Amino acid sequence: MISIYKAKDYKELSRKAANIISAQIIMKPSCVLGLATGTSPIGIYNQLVEWYKKGDLDFSEVSTVNLDEYIGLDATNEQSYRYFMNYNLFDKVNIDKLNTNVPNGMARDLEGECDSYDSLIHSLGGIDLQLLGLGHNGHIGFNEPGESFEKGTHIVDLSESTINANARLFAKKEDVPRRAITMGIRTIMQAGIVLLVASGEDKADIVRDAFWGKITSQVPASVLQLHKNLIIVADEAALSKSPVTDNYTVLR
Ligand code: GLP
Repeated sequence: MISIYKAKDYKELSRKAANIISAQIIMKPSCVLGLATGTSPIGIYNQLVEWYKKGDLDFSEVSTVNLDEYIGLDATNEQSYRYFMNYNLFDKVNIDKLNTNVPNGMARDLEGECDSYDSLIHSLGGIDLQLLGLGHNGHIGFNEPGESFEKGTHIVDLSESTINANARLFAKKEDVPRRAITMGIRTIMQAGIVLLVASGEDKADIVRDAFWGKITSQVPASVLQLHKNLIIVADEAALSKSPVTDNYTVLR
């Protein structure tokens, strides 16, 4: 089933998506959450922290696995995804840090790191809910256009468009790592629920192409059309080029 929530703006989007994650934690306190970085999920994490502080959420039994990490950045580097997650969520809620997992971009044996990340996900019993953002070229995690749908966690060379898009977060473009470790599409497709968030007019074309266009490896997110339980939460701007009229739509 594909369900789409249309939010007025980023704030409402963040609240709706945080609501879905909260429901997952409440229904299964020991759930495994697949988490994402990027600017899109920041509002969601802020909302979850707020509810935690009010006493409405308990992360003590939750485990997390993050989608991806840059190769060559360690946890103390502000641009690393481990740093991002600690700063935006893990340091602000009662999650056991030992239960939070981000691929290690500093591993000496990077191939081995990929294999053990897949084994880890397997040993946790799989991902209950995977949160995803959406790259301008349709990438999910760091699965770039052309990537096979069959892959588990692997090493990727980032595309020029992703390096350019992410350069805004670095002091200069040369500082953006050229490679990353990412969960593969196969890993993502095995999650029980996929929750994809997209915000802003600059995502309108790719949202339309990914979910109303044909399924092709040239638009990695398009494979999500085949997922058994995909929830898209997007704001009006991101849905402005898609045929969605109601605030809640079930596509199929
Ligand atoms: C990065 C991340 C993705 C993220 C994407 C979109 O490349 N690896 O996981 O979804 O950017 O980011 P944003 O939400 O900032 O548009």
